[in-house]
Amino acid sequence: MNDTFSPAQSQGSGYEAWLGYLPLQPEALRNEWHTWFGAIVAAEQNDPIQAAAAEAQLGLGKLLGRSIPVIPDAENAGGSCLVIGTFEEGHEITAELFDESDIHSAGAAGFVIRVRQDHKQIAIGGATSAAVLHGVFHLLRLMASGRSLSELSGAVQPANGLRMINHWDNFDGSIERGYAGTSFLYDKNRFSGDTDRLRDYARLMSSIGINAICINNVNAHYEETRFITSAYLPEISNIADIFRMYGIRLFLSINYAATLQLGNLETADPLDPKVSAWWAKQATEVYAAIPDFGGFVVKADSENRPGPFTYGRDHADGANMLAEALEPFGGIVVWRCFVYNCKQDWRDRTTDRARAAYDHFKPLDGRFRDNVVLQIKNGPLDFQVREPVSPLFGALEQTNHLLEFQITQEYTGQQRHLCYLVPQWKEVLEFNTYAKGEPSPVKHIADGSVWQNRLGGIAAVTNVGNDANWTGHLLAQANLYGYGRLTWNPELSAEQIAAEWIRLTFGPDPAVEAVILRMLLDSWRIYESYTAPLGIGWMVNPNHHYGPNVDGYEYSQWGTYHYADSQGLGVDRTVHTGTGYAAQYMGENAERYGSLEHCPDELVLFFHHVPYTHVLHSGKTVIQHIYDTHFAGANEAAELLESWRSLKDRLDIGLYSQVEERLIGQAAHAKEWRDQINTYFYRKSGIGDVHGRTIY
Ligand code: GCU
Repeated sequence: MNDTFSPAQSQGSGYEAWLGYLPLQPEALRNEWHTWFGAIVAAEQNDPIQAAAAEAQLGLGKLLGRSIPVIPDAENAGGSCLVIGTFEEGHEITAELFDESDIHSAGAAGFVIRVRQDHKQIAIGGATSAAVLHGVFHLLRLMASGRSLSELSGAVQPANGLRMINHWDNFDGSIERGYAGTSFLYDKNRFSGDTDRLRDYARLMSSIGINAICINNVNAHYEETRFITSAYLPEISNIADIFRMYGIRLFLSINYAATLQLGNLETADPLDPKVSAWWAKQATEVYAAIPDFGGFVVKADSENRPGPFTYGRDHADGANMLAEALEPFGGIVVWRCFVYNCKQDWRDRTTDRARAAYDHFKPLDGRFRDNVVLQIKNGPLDFQVREPVSPLFGALEQTNHLLEFQITQEYTGQQRHLCYLVPQWKEVLEFNTYAKGEPSPVKHIADGSVWQNRLGGIAAVTNVGNDANWTGHLLAQANLYGYGRLTWNPELSAEQIAAEWIRLTFGPDPAVEAVILRMLLDSWRIYESYTAPLGIGWMVNPNHHYGPNVDGYEYSQWGTYHYADSQGLGVDRTVHTGTGYAAQYMGENAERYGSLEHCPDELVLFFHHVPYTHVLHSGKTVIQHIYDTHFAGANEAAELLESWRSLKDRLDIGLYSQVEERLIGQAAHAKEWRDQINTYFYRKSGIGDVHGRTIY
């Protein structure tokens, strides 16, 4: 199932993902929509409007089972039609179909849809052609997810300005933390040139509202360093052309020390005028090739990447120097906050990696230029199945920032296990930071509204590759879909998003929807229960991060420890006896996490070192919790497979089989997790399971 895509395989492969536009059912629903689309009217000739018209033609054609012409003006429609276009002054669509209040409510990036019963017209307008395209995808999604015409009218604006995807693809075709085959962007240090697949990818991303994509790994190696030069810009500009058609701006990850490799300089000191002059020249070259280039994504002084620290400068110096180079062209610098000591001595208990982002960046608040955005991972460590929210959210009052999620399942089963991550992301978005009175949830810190930042939004490391179904595990498409939908509208619930995705992917079968919905919604909790307990995280095999290894990182330099001994486990991050990390939070969060009495069970080992006999709020001891959740979790993993099997006769066999194969693997691997974790803690603690189940 996971061979490289070729069109012959698309049937049952999952390639079309949520844009399959399955025929509308039941008939009554099809009839309701049927009479509205005699033609698609698209007067403007620019790319996004023409892409929108083509998408409407494809989507409506498949949903309604007939072909619909695209024409340039309404006069010739001779009956019902869908009219799409921007609100341009003097433009027929603006004057006739929309009034001032429509234009106002669509805002700069949203769209408005009007249903005119009298003329039998549906009109979609927006300030930009990309907004109109988003409106068309909205119409198609509503229809395909079984909604009725009465739900269509109104204006919709995105909550976040930047809705970004980060690829960790390398030029050699490999993908750092990729679990869905090799890259579809690159192959053996060449651009793949697979424009069909790239266009389909851009369609998928645009349909969920993505407006920015960084096409290369944050760890920019030797060849990728040259992406910003004439050696590669012509080919990159071809990718940007495809993205532009779908309202997406292209970004590149850069090597902070590119001046050493490419500029004939012996320094990358951000305050050296020769360094800034080189970047200014390079920015000019980039914009000559790609006029709407988005900007640079930068991983500096992080995990052995170069950065301003080498020259005794700080991260504001580094980011501002690059920002100055991009500023004349409207570009931005996305500067990552994943900066910590990755050469820690495991014997040293005073250094706490969790503190690092806050300790590095909080003191720099207010020093960054207007076109710098700090990108902050959702948690203080690294995309674990359970971590608290990074305390940096809310703490930066005068600095633009982006929230970073990880769609690719590095620590959550690598797309071999089912783990629907939208519930986790929802918890992060709803977390109250107490930054500015109440409430100040992360969603409003990220979108920039709490501190009135100029730029804001969400970025995420993507989970796609060359596998026919894009994501390896078909059900992992729900994470990609859900990420985009949430960045557009964080108010959607995890359940709404899942239900929508199921319907778009598998069609309107209530039995299918009920089973898959339950599977998705339970999956994060199930994965957590058979892996690393109570917020401690890690316990994975080093390097590739797949599968259990309790001491895998215990005596390493990476700052990720559990400190288990014969008495207990957990990291003391309290103020009085620990690393003081808990004090980085504001308001009652600091108190709640810092006190063993009030700390929520799911994070107790993240914040406290406790004996195995410590009694949780649940009434169980820590050791019994470990045993119970691991036995239950492995059983529930096996039940996921049974649930899926109950759908065998209701699903396309191609789609059915590929998921079944993954779930068989998950059920077996969950037992391995269960037995290794239980056995480790049984041998460490010497305390048996009260239920006497088998532990080795
Ligand atoms: C994690 C991941 C790395 C990645 C890094 C990052 O540590 O394992 O592969 O480079 O995050 O976010 O930069």
